[in-house]
Amino acid sequence: MASPSSSQIALQQMLADLLLQHFRRDSAESNTLQLYRLLRDSILQEVLPPGLRLPSSRQLAQELGIARNTVIHVYERLVVEGYLAAGVGRGTFVLDTGPERLPGREPAPVRHGADSQAEISQRGTQLVAQAGAGAKQWGAFMPGVPEVRTFPSRTWMRLHNRQWRKPQPDLLTYSVGPGLPALRSALADYLRSSRGVICTPEQIIVTNGSHAALQLIALLLGDVGDTAWVENPGYWGVHSVWRSSGLDTQPVAVDGDGLQVEEGARLGVPKLIYVSPSHQYPLGAVMSLARRRRLLAYARRHNSWIVEDDYDSEFRYGRPPLPSLQGLDSHGRVIYLATFSKVIYPGLRLAYMVVPESLVASFQTGLSEMFRGGQYLTQAVLADFIAEGHFVSHIRRMRHLYALRRETLLAAITAHFGERLPIHDGAAGLHLVLGLPDGCDDHAIAEAALQQGILTRPLSAYYRGEAPAQQGLLLGYAHVHEQDIAGHFATLAAVIKAAGIGLAPLP
Ligand SMILES: Cc1ncc(COP(=O)(O)O)c(C=O)c1O
Repeated sequence: MASPSSSQIALQQMLADLLLQHFRRDSAESNTLQLYRLLRDSILQEVLPPGLRLPSSRQLAQELGIARNTVIHVYERLVVEGYLAAGVGRGTFVLDTGPERLPGREPAPVRHGADSQAEISQRGTQLVAQAGAGAKQWGAFMPGVPEVRTFPSRTWMRLHNRQWRKPQPDLLTYSVGPGLPALRSALADYLRSSRGVICTPEQIIVTNGSHAALQLIALLLGDVGDTAWVENPGYWGVHSVWRSSGLDTQPVAVDGDGLQVEEGARLGVPKLIYVSPSHQYPLGAVMSLARRRRLLAYARRHNSWIVEDDYDSEFRYGRPPLPSLQGLDSHGRVIYLATFSKVIYPGLRLAYMVVPESLVASFQTGLSEMFRGGQYLTQAVLADFIAEGHFVSHIRRMRHLYALRRETLLAAITAHFGERLPIHDGAAGLHLVLGLPDGCDDHAIAEAALQQGILTRPLSAYYRGEAPAQQGLLLGYAHVHEQDIAGHFATLAAVIKAAGIGLAPLP
């Protein structure tokens, strides 16, 4: 073996110092892992240059006071991974693993910790900056959350077990279709009888959640830069998905009759129009028949596609559910979109669209190409759950429960504020909106409520564009035990009153 040069000796000394400085025998990490990590990082950061001969395993083990086998094991692993080379009689050397070197100084290596963020695309930056989903999704009064504790889990488990007892290969392999035929059949029956949707099973496309459906719609029906109307205030999800898909989303104001078609028409002809006509999100308006007909006529005249988001309309209190907009459409311009998130549970991540016949083939292929649909075994369970009547009876039971919780919340609001604050809810869904006077800061109030353990979403966060935002708080009641509602609301009421919103005293 050739004797090491003086620079080699200096580098070996530097390595020994470095290891002695950073190696901790009392660390929770094993000696092996610690040594491996220290050597690997030093090579990657070129603290140990290519060509450097490492001390012998015996020497290093002695310096660090650890077993020689540990060093041998680490050297062997680094050889296998390509960081080191070892030869009989030559010792162990650092290999040159760096990318091609360019002339000039290389930038200092960046350590990716929590405080450093990589640069992302412009649309990615916009998506992240305007993200709408809350970090916490359970607790009074988080909006949009159903009661999941009363889900008939035993029935679900029984149906699940039945499928798993003898799972069919085509339920477990890649699926190329638009959803399990049995589920699409069960849904077509349900939609015809309960939602006034006119469709065949072939028109149903099952997706992993509504966002995947919205993304597919954007991809197949819009090109980058095309205009899409979205409700204002409206669902943050459609805005995020469509904007990041390259569409030019234009917020269009809603009033008590739903989306204002005339206002939209001033913004230019859209490829896509998103509406939630049965229960406008978040304010709760029901789109009037006159407005529905105007919207359908507009879409037909301009070849626009309407996306009807029917996310929670199974829950209407004191009145029967409203028939869908799709059922009124005789020209095939409406894509009906629904989710199982509110009627089963959100973690299921299953939603579906009913597309006009003219779009069936493109959507089937598009879905398979983009998302490689799946969860067929779960879809089979769901199909049985619907076909055997559990779905409809679960919805019926939840409707009664949510009606009771809504009444309890309304009573609590009246007890604290009388009639002094407006309430928007359309007597439907899983949440209501408690309006606050103009000039309040609903973000600050929601933040103060969070400090007291109460989750709400500020209404103004649902507005886009220049138009002035109404102030208010979205309060989800469906998942809050009725006996806890008054107590939680008392906490919130104290926060609202402490914010000094200028209410006259109760008579
Ligand atoms: C208006 C609206 N549409 C759709 C959804 C459901 O989306 P997903 O199917 O992703 O759960 C929600 C959920 O909160 C919603 O508020």
